[in-house]
Amino acid sequence: MRQHTVAYLPGDGIGPEVCDVARRCVDAAGVRFGFEVGWDEQTVGGAAIDATGAALPPETLAACRAGDAVLLGAVGGPRWDDPTAAARPEDALLALRSELELFANLRPVTAHPALAAASPLRPEVRDGADILILRELTGGLYFGRPQGLEEHDGVESVVDTLRYTRAEIERIVELAFELAEGRRGRLTSVDKANVLASSRLWREVVNEVATRHPSVTVEHALVDSTAYLILTQPTAYDVIVTENLFGDILSDEAAAIAGSLGLMASASLGTRVTEQGRFGMYEPVHGSAPGIAGQGAANPLATVASAAMMLRLSLGEADAADALEAAVDEAVASGPRTADLGGSDGTAAVADFLLTRVADPAGVTA
Ligand code: IPM
Ligand code: MG
Repeated sequence: MRQHTVAYLPGDGIGPEVCDVARRCVDAAGVRFGFEVGWDEQTVGGAAIDATGAALPPETLAACRAGDAVLLGAVGGPRWDDPTAAARPEDALLALRSELELFANLRPVTAHPALAAASPLRPEVRDGADILILRELTGGLYFGRPQGLEEHDGVESVVDTLRYTRAEIERIVELAFELAEGRRGRLTSVDKANVLASSRLWREVVNEVATRHPSVTVEHALVDSTAYLILTQPTAYDVIVTENLFGDILSDEAAAIAGSLGLMASASLGTRVTEQGRFGMYEPVHGSAPGIAGQGAANPLATVASAAMMLRLSLGEADAADALEAAVDEAVASGPRTADLGGSDGTAAVADFLLTRVADPAGVTA
């Protein structure tokens, strides 16, 4: 029996509820396809601050390093919102990204026909949209130093630094071309090259890497016009690659194409290559939703879809990934719906629907 180890970090708010559904789906797929996952549960975020004083305790980081992948729920909540506090839940996310070198953040966006009413876009605009946003995750404004308040000659100022090394740009761009080759062969590199020096180097690197991938059609686009076009012509995009902050903003915006942030899955891939794939961290794009935490009302689909990406990209379990994705698709098409999708069903109803399909799709009668 194939064995995998996954660091299991449910975190705060609805994190534990949605992670539990994803874990049970993965276990059910393991029974069906012949593998076992050892879940190494650890605290992170606000829960970890309460337990240890730190948002990312050393044991949690060690468990992540030791695993084949990390499954994370969400971090944060009003209890830990004090901006002057010594430790903040979001610090854990940034520390995980940088400590584990998770440089590539994949955020797929598709327009499921069953969610036409949930999206503000007209059906003829969104139908067929299928975009993979690849966001650089360990550089740019999030990590550049210096950062913070400064005072020179009595004048107070504040600084953030947008820094990239050529190698950092090259590794994300290389992956973008590889992903485009496995899809429809179109790559849009998004930057602000009419203003930013970092964007001009970014363009240069994209053009260099492009010579190694002649089958991919590449275009450069400015981030402001892309913010407009992604909603007016979403079907024009295949793979989008962009720096950290641009990717943060564009991926939330693109969720409007899908119809709900509650459906957006993500993978954050690192540099470590495992026997079955590449080490990565998997989490829903949505947050901890403290307003509905503990009520059994959370939508687990984004986390289950993230677990499917984990099975495919880090654990090499493609059949299991297909099974989870098919179950999520069916749930979106005709299954129970949580409030974010306009329904009134609970997490448990969605979980039951998914689990019966992952365990034995042939046994389900429509
Ligand atoms: C995301 C989030 C994080 C980010 C926050 C919580 C720090 O918005 O994962 O997109 O800005 O990267
Ligand atoms: Mg964000």
